[in-house]
Amino acid sequence: FHVNWDVSVAEKAGYKHFMQKEIHEQPRTISDTITGFSSSKNKELYNLLKKTERLYIIACGTSYHAGLVGKFWIEKYARIPVEVDYASEYRYRDRIINDRTVVLGISQSGETADTRFALLDAKKEGAKTVSLVNVVGSSLSRETDFVLYTYCGPEIGVAATKTFTAQLVSLLLFALEIGLEKGTLNFTDYDFIHHQLLHIPSRVEKILEKDGEIKELAHKYMNATDFLFLGRNINYPIALEGALKLKEISYIHAEGYPAGEMKHGPIALIDEKMPVVCVSPKDRFYEKIFSNIQEVKARKGQVISVATEGDERIKQVSDEVIYIPKTIDTLYPILTVIPLQMLSYHIATLLGKDVDQPRNLAKTVTVE
Ligand code: AGP
Repeated sequence: FHVNWDVSVAEKAGYKHFMQKEIHEQPRTISDTITGFSSSKNKELYNLLKKTERLYIIACGTSYHAGLVGKFWIEKYARIPVEVDYASEYRYRDRIINDRTVVLGISQSGETADTRFALLDAKKEGAKTVSLVNVVGSSLSRETDFVLYTYCGPEIGVAATKTFTAQLVSLLLFALEIGLEKGTLNFTDYDFIHHQLLHIPSRVEKILEKDGEIKELAHKYMNATDFLFLGRNINYPIALEGALKLKEISYIHAEGYPAGEMKHGPIALIDEKMPVVCVSPKDRFYEKIFSNIQEVKARKGQVISVATEGDERIKQVSDEVIYIPKTIDTLYPILTVIPLQMLSYHIATLLGKDVDQPRNLAKTVTVE
């Protein structure tokens, strides 16, 4: 009797690649992170943050993009000034640290050398340090004064996907908790946002159902040599993340930009061959990004919009629209990034690239 069984297929739970499996795990990993984070509150950490005058967030790559989104939430709800820096830059600049400075390092692996050493240096100079990691017992979690977690299980694909959305969830909950402790956020608003967050996993599922549609789109645009990604405000870091995802697994040149900055340079790149992915949900910046999209269309760019369900108007200025479910403004980044992960995945696999182990890249960079 012979069972035709393959370990790698079993590990991928029927998916073709780890990246695809990890993208599709997100409804669960988001939900686990909400539960895990909410049930592990550290009173001492929040007491410290109540008195914090300045927060530095340091990270690399995708974790850095999560930090950029986190800045919006922490400044909005906790009213702490936040600076976000690449760890490799932060380490060598003349940072200003006193005993009211907190440095938060974000790292999926908890082993990234740039992030580790920058945090160790800041700690030596008197800052309190916090890490947000996915790997329990990782170096970063042992070297910092406090540790927060994402609850994703192992991420095998070199491109970070499920850990990014989990980092977003943890950072949002972190901001809300500090806000509540400090009194800069009232309980009604806290409760409302938290309640909306609980709906996010089912909304992510709705986006994942569009796999076929996004694959078709990927087919149409897979031969482009350059992509531009645009977003505004809290969705601007999502444009950066969309561009990074596409670059690292498909080797197509891509740039992410704040949409308002386009006219200061990158607009010169736009012609009929350039796909421009516009992260344009129906939030308070909608009209602003709508006019940016019109500017792209006027230069004959190919517009792929990520828009909110029911937004018919966006079709007037877009060649393609990927619809995502409606949510509150503050939560859009957790949804808008999903179609961008899916688009990159499909473009790269259609091009025959090894999405789980892209050339020249390591999952964890343990050298400076
Ligand atoms: C993400 O897709 C990349 N592979 C990479 O940018 C990564 O996010 C970066 O190296 C940081 O890793 P870390 O979160 O484990 O510190």
